[in-house]
Amino acid sequence: MPGVELAYINAGEGPVVLFLHGFPFDKSMWSDQIEALSAAGFRGVVPDLRGLGETKAAGEISTMEEMARDAATVLDQVGIEQAVICGLSMGGYVAFEFAHLFPSRVRGLVLAGTRAPADNEQEKVGREQQVQTMLRAGMVPISIATVPKLLAERTRTEKPDVVKRVRTMITRSDPKGAAAAQRGMAARRDYTDDLLNITAPTLIIVGREDPIRPVSDAAFMHERIRNSRLEIIEDAAHMANIEQPEKFNRILLDFLNKLVH
Ligand code: MLT
Repeated sequence: MPGVELAYINAGEGPVVLFLHGFPFDKSMWSDQIEALSAAGFRGVVPDLRGLGETKAAGEISTMEEMARDAATVLDQVGIEQAVICGLSMGGYVAFEFAHLFPSRVRGLVLAGTRAPADNEQEKVGREQQVQTMLRAGMVPISIATVPKLLAERTRTEKPDVVKRVRTMITRSDPKGAAAAQRGMAARRDYTDDLLNITAPTLIIVGREDPIRPVSDAAFMHERIRNSRLEIIEDAAHMANIEQPEKFNRILLDFLNKLVH
């Protein structure tokens, strides 16, 4: 498994939360959380997953397992054994792999806007079509097609700064790196059986209006992870942590404070 040079943020002091971003985003998507957590006595470690942000891909596919091993390498580099693992969407798939590979390193889990089952054939075909679009035409068509699904209607009409932030994250992504991550998601395994083995306290968060990973996906995980809590955020779709940062941070900090105190 080829190694890559990993870019990451390491901010704050206290119990550690490892943040795993979604697709096709980068570590900056967690900036509101890093700020709130640092102020509340937590430390955030936030890698750019391979192919995205400032971390390069090593080939034409970046698997969720490679990303999870990269995240563990980042924790090693900053001298951390155990952390709360918080992943959104693709970051959730990486969190599942991390929990599977390194269960003793997981102090708690936060699964936001994600799901356990693998893709069906139609979804895999859709991902490969998106790969071809990215490689041919870059990230702008991806941003145009996905922003209406990523953000709730209210966010799109009332928060132009959030729309711009999400658009910018997508369009500055490297198409080749994003394509490799997209192929890695298509190849991911089904995590449903893993859910029954998760013993770490788990917080599941979902935006009420998320059409990509809807409330039913979150309920599916909640039913199977024994020590889990489900929180639904109103007026948010897929990017709940950016659309409603105050609500997201309140829920996250409540979970973290109960976990560590
Ligand atoms: C993400 O936000 O990471 C993606 O929507 C995940 C996916 O395509 O499955």
